[in-house]
Amino acid sequence: MNTFRDYYNNVVKLTFKDHFFSKEPKHVWVICNYRDKWLLTRHKDRGIEFPGGKVEEGETAEQAAIREVMEETGGAVGQLNYVGQYHVSGKGGTVIKNVYYAIIDELIDQPTYFETFGPVLLEAVPDNVQNNSKYSFIMKDDVLTHCMKKIMREYRS
Ligand code: GTP
Repeated sequence: MNTFRDYYNNVVKLTFKDHFFSKEPKHVWVICNYRDKWLLTRHKDRGIEFPGGKVEEGETAEQAAIREVMEETGGAVGQLNYVGQYHVSGKGGTVIKNVYYAIIDELIDQPTYFETFGPVLLEAVPDNVQNNSKYSFIMKDDVLTHCMKKIMREYRS
C-alpha cells in the first residue's frame, strides 16, 4: 500500500492488489497508449489528463473505462489491463477509482468529446507535471508515478 497526499492535500491510498478497497468502484482512470504514444484528453476545466470518469448505473467498471476513453479521446480500446485501485478521502467524501492500462487500436473522430476538448498525444508524459498549469490535478500525485512505473515494468519493457 502506498499512502501520500494529492495536489489538494487529500490523503490518497494506492494498492496494486485486486480490488482491495471495493469490488464495485464508482470511478475509473485509464492510462492509454496508442502507437507508442500516450493518449490523454484535455479536460475543459482541469487540463490535460488521462481519460476516465464515473461508472454509470448498470455498467461494469471495465465497460465504463472503455466508454470514457471513447467519449473523451475517440480511442477504441483493444486491450484493457487492470493496474490497481486508489482511495481518496476528501472534504466532499471518498472516491475509489480503478486504474487501467489500455492499448488503443484506433482513434476515431467524435462529434463531441463531452467535457473535454478531445485527444492529446504525447511522446512522453513530462516529469514536471506538478508545476505545469496545463495539466490536471489528477496527474499531480504519486498515483501517476507509481502506476507508470508498474506499466513500464510489466507491459513496455
Ligand atoms: P462531479 O460530481 O462530476 O461534479 O465531480 P466532483 O469532482 O464533484 O466529484 P467526484 O466524485 O468526481 O470527486 C470528488 C472529489 O474527489 C474531487 O473534488 C477531488 O478532490 C477528489 N478526486 C476525484 N477524483 C480524483 C483523482 O483521480 N485523484 C485525486 N487525487 N482526487 C480525486
